[in-house]
Amino acid sequence: MNLGIIGCGAIGTDLALAADKIKEIEKIYLYDIKENASKDLCKKITKSEVKKVKDFLPLVDVVFEGASQKAVKDYAEEVLNAGKNLIIMSVGSLFKDSFRKKLQNKAREKKCKIYIPSGAICGIDGILSASIGGIDEVTLVTTKPPESFGKNYSIRTVLFKGNAKDAVKKFPTNINVAASLSLAGMGFNLTQVQIVADPVVSRISHKILAHGKFGRLRVELENMPNPNNPGSSYMASLSAIATLKKIIDPIQIGI
Ligand SMILES: NC(=O)c1ccc[n+]([C@@H]2O[C@H](COP(=O)([O-])OP(=O)(O)OC[C@H]3O[C@@H](n4cnc5c(N)ncnc54)[C@H](O)[C@@H]3O)[C@@H](O)[C@H]2O)c1
Repeated sequence: MNLGIIGCGAIGTDLALAADKIKEIEKIYLYDIKENASKDLCKKITKSEVKKVKDFLPLVDVVFEGASQKAVKDYAEEVLNAGKNLIIMSVGSLFKDSFRKKLQNKAREKKCKIYIPSGAICGIDGILSASIGGIDEVTLVTTKPPESFGKNYSIRTVLFKGNAKDAVKKFPTNINVAASLSLAGMGFNLTQVQIVADPVVSRISHKILAHGKFGRLRVELENMPNPNNPGSSYMASLSAIATLKKIIDPIQIGI
């Protein structure tokens, strides 16, 4: 199996390093809008080569996006049109129903898949199952140290309170988890989100509360920041790697 990676930042690097050790992966093609990022990563990955997306597309089986919402808009349709499976990290890009449905239809037509890792949160499996029976409420409270937002808040500050659609529009790089949660559960309009900057905390935390016919779900996790990007949770990289392994592995655990 050959892998294409769009975005050689924190998550793309972690994924490439892990993929380099997976025996089923023969070749890894790297692309980043910043040429140096892909060239630097290429030096650390034995099986890798730097190529533009249009040049590596005919050669790969799976494309991993770990770049930006814009990259998803620019490349997702092209990837699917080539009949290649796509893993999307910048999930906030899928908040527009028309864009998401366009990608869904293209994937259906070309018989390929769009994989959305659970990213920096846990409990997506429970929310997905619960949504079959009906969910009444899903709330996400995300608290990050102020440096994650590139600003200096001296007291705990609620930066956003509203639905997931507005959250991903206002915080395109900080709250992809709200998008994953929306897609798994009640959708972007009904999923409630609070984003908090707190100088007391040193870790990114996510609390999820959901009620429905299934009962009640509470998930709370404290994430270590990615050593290469304090705005990203390390868990997001691990989830990307786990998704790649799930695609390869014949045993599928969880839903
Ligand atoms: N789903 C989740 O839970 C979750 C968690 C953390 C981060 N993310 C998202 O995943 C993406 C990657 O995160 P990261 O921490 O690795 O970011 P990062 O900033 O460390 O790396 C992103 C890389 O992508 C490159 N890039 C940006 N736009 C590009 C484009 N149009 N084409 C090609 N390359 C491009 C940048 O130059 C950079 O090297 C971001 O969009 C981030 O918001 C999702």
